Amino acid sequence: MPTNDGMLDEVYLDRLALRIHYELQRLGEELQLDRRVAALLAPWIARLQAAGRTPVRVVDVGCGLGHVIRAAAAHRHFPPGVELVGVDLNRALVNEARRLASVEQLDCNFIAGDAFAPGVAINDPSRTIVISTGLLHHLDLRELVELFSVQARLGVAGFAHWDIAPCVWSTVGAWVFHQARMREPVSRHDGVMSARRAHCAEALLAAAHAGAPEYAPSVIEGSRWHPRAIDVLRPITGWKT
Ligand SMILES: C[S@@+](CC[C@H](N)C(=O)[O-])C[C@H]1O[C@@H](n2cnc3c(N)ncnc32)[C@H](O)[C@@H]1O
Repeated sequence: MPTNDGMLDEVYLDRLALRIHYELQRLGEELQLDRRVAALLAPWIARLQAAGRTPVRVVDVGCGLGHVIRAAAAHRHFPPGVELVGVDLNRALVNEARRLASVEQLDCNFIAGDAFAPGVAINDPSRTIVISTGLLHHLDLRELVELFSVQARLGVAGFAHWDIAPCVWSTVGAWVFHQARMREPVSRHDGVMSARRAHCAEALLAAAHAGAPEYAPSVIEGSRWHPRAIDVLRPITGWKT
């Protein structure tokens, strides 16, 4: 329970964040995000590895518990020479991601901080691919443009950000899914609000064209009327041309 004691409140909020992100991790597992991220990135990684010998880095911005990075490391989705790094502003989540990776002895790293700040995670931008899952709907249109421009300013090789595809079914689908699968009241509420906040492809593309026009952005999504359940999260991608 929250208290008037600042210290205890911090512990309470950290534990709540962990419980919510464990539920998000279950959603990520159901949507097979690790496999789908790796499949999309495979040709980009091959291209970067063919062009040079230094490591290629995949940076997951807002990694939460690091499910995508840890699962990719556990299943060896990427070839040798690819560094897997998760970054999150929330230190409690990063500590838990590190603990889980160490229990499973996984070859990946987790960093607490702003993924785009100098010296945090993007050290060799031209050999870095930035990804995220479930981040974009937390940003308003101005913040979306800023997300794309910061990647362009840094000069990352490419980006792929997976987020909720709004469609005729997404709000009701999110309600049914979260009632059936989520236990935390915050998750049940926020899951539906997230679906309502999600940006349509046109809005994402407008933001990406404004912030990173040289990346030829594209949204990869199926039919809005009859989407596959797994495509509830779909990527906006960009590759430096
Ligand atoms: C909804 S969570 C998504 C967590 C995770 N990707 C998942 O799918 O379970 C979004 C996370 O992004 C983090 N975040 C937002 N902006 C960030 C930034 N610039 N650098 C690092 N983390 C960031 C927040 O701290 C938050 O934990």
